[in-house]
Amino acid sequence: MARITSFEEYQKEYKKSVDNPEAFWAEQAEQFTWQKKWDTVLKWNFAEPTIEWFAGGKLNITENCLDRHLPEKANQVAYYWEPNNPTEKAVTLTYQQLHQQVCRFANVLKNNGAKKGDRVCIYMPMVPELAIALLACARIGAVHSVVFGGFSASALSGRIQDCDCKLVVTSDGAYRGAKTIPIKAVVDEALEICPGVEKVIVLNRTNTEIKWVEGRDVRWEEEVQKANADCPAEPMDAEDMLFILYTSGSTGKPKGVVHTCGGYMVYTHYSFENVFQYNEGGVYWCTADIGWVTGHSYIVYAPLLAGATSVMFEGVPAYPDAGRFWQVIDKYKVNIFYTAPTAIRALEAMGLDYVKPYKLDSLRVLGSVGEPINEEAWNWYNENIGKGKCPIVDTWWQTETGGILISPLAGITKTKPSFATLPLPGVQPILVDEKGNEIMGNGVEGNLCIKFPWPSIIRTTYGDHERCRQTYFATYLGLYFTGDGCKRDEDGYYRITGRVDDVLNVSGHRLGTAEVESAINMHVDIVESAVVGYPHDIKGQGIYAYVICTNKNKDAETLRKEIMAEVAKAIGPIAKPDKIQIVTGLPKTRSGKIIRRILRKVAEGETNNLGDISTLLDPLVVKEIIAGAIK
Ligand code: WTA
Repeated sequence: MARITSFEEYQKEYKKSVDNPEAFWAEQAEQFTWQKKWDTVLKWNFAEPTIEWFAGGKLNITENCLDRHLPEKANQVAYYWEPNNPTEKAVTLTYQQLHQQVCRFANVLKNNGAKKGDRVCIYMPMVPELAIALLACARIGAVHSVVFGGFSASALSGRIQDCDCKLVVTSDGAYRGAKTIPIKAVVDEALEICPGVEKVIVLNRTNTEIKWVEGRDVRWEEEVQKANADCPAEPMDAEDMLFILYTSGSTGKPKGVVHTCGGYMVYTHYSFENVFQYNEGGVYWCTADIGWVTGHSYIVYAPLLAGATSVMFEGVPAYPDAGRFWQVIDKYKVNIFYTAPTAIRALEAMGLDYVKPYKLDSLRVLGSVGEPINEEAWNWYNENIGKGKCPIVDTWWQTETGGILISPLAGITKTKPSFATLPLPGVQPILVDEKGNEIMGNGVEGNLCIKFPWPSIIRTTYGDHERCRQTYFATYLGLYFTGDGCKRDEDGYYRITGRVDDVLNVSGHRLGTAEVESAINMHVDIVESAVVGYPHDIKGQGIYAYVICTNKNKDAETLRKEIMAEVAKAIGPIAKPDKIQIVTGLPKTRSGKIIRRILRKVAEGETNNLGDISTLLDPLVVKEIIAGAIK
């Protein structure tokens, strides 16, 4: 693949990609190993939606991630794995070793009943076996559904049931900073209501004592011993499912975003190469968890497709102290570092004493992902980590987009703090007003849509295609709607301003307000609640909950604690509200609709300018809410 090397070339490639998308993406796809070439590059109809890239083509993504690099890269490191605890031994996996382990574990999956098309749930800490498990599924054509290790048993069982998983892969426990979390116990609890799961493969990570279900549970280590090391790659249609990843929206339960094999492979690789400008021999580190899409695309698939060397990190940014990221960068001489604004802000708050001991002179490119990066954090990152010499790629994308859509290309696109800048070739963003009219020109703001498919666009939401249509393709006919608000400045640069729907982004974790509300409403004393986001210095957004309690004898502190526990149980600790205000009523219209605008303003600390409240059913509740607001 010819990688873009100058801004003029970017403009040329962009033009080519819009003038003739089929020819453009066919050329990108040529470099891969196809067991059979595609019949058609693209078929699409956003109204249904149906989107097919490289239909008729046969491939296996793991052949492209692994076999294609052998024997040339047999001894090149694919992953440097850095454990949570720096005193524990690090692990190195070469391309040859990774290939072997993936094939072996692929046979373990087969031996335990998994076959092409079956869904496999993966609930694991950030150990090398996690990446191996994903790739092993892909090897045999099983569909992985990774669930982030911080989700509760109830959230896990919901996801296992929704896509009817047959197998679960997990570990006894997980290390997270100073804590050891018994995650197999979470799986056991979840599986009480998941009769469809036949086998649980358990890796030993923490030597935690676990309950054992005979006939259902098997040990990773023993199964691997028994398995053959040879596993041919299953031929997959380009449009066969590669994985499902659950994500939150503004309504209902999380939905299973479906990505397919061919287009996802072509696009994630293309975006990785061009955004990060990875060079042969370089060391790349993405700090995300594989439980989120960033880990799927930019720890597992894209770096391996590019034959890159990555660092994979089990731990957390501030353990054993807030210098850990910088220590690891020096240790492996990381050239490209990709992290989240929430981590940057948290480490900034700890002070420069944690940065100073480290050289950081191997760094060449810095990346940011998951939420808008504020100017202050951008500048701190630029000055103290990049030493003013590393371009920052502020990469905008979503679980549904599969890969980065709007971002500078490192060293090529002129950056501007807090701007994701320009679309990648093949990506055609437009801004629309509430009615869906395109907002033309520069110096404007609107809702961000994309008007033409790119290869890694969402194909469906698992088991409910209509929901996919409703959520993404029905708001504005003929457009993919992102749910984000966006500015386009005088230079035509894009700046994502945040969600315009009821989706929260807390420390880069996506949560729906409806999801949190329904968790709170599980509490016996709560009749109704409303959740909104508010600006939070470290997390980006904090969670503010207004609750109506029927039990007059309950003291506020106990109630708060119980609500927290309820939310942790239903979703996970990541969804616990930061502030809980007990109210006697919520601001509603006469037709009973909650006016969130008012609640948001109060949560932001605004008590005047609440807009017209005369249409409220009971304007007095607003006074009470303002009086009781939590600072
Ligand atoms: C937000 C994460 C501003 C956005 C890859 C999007 C961003 C949601 C950025 C998707 C960015 C992600 N600047 N906002 N660079 N990157 N977002 O699905 O609101 O976990 O819609 O995917 O995160 O979150 P998701």
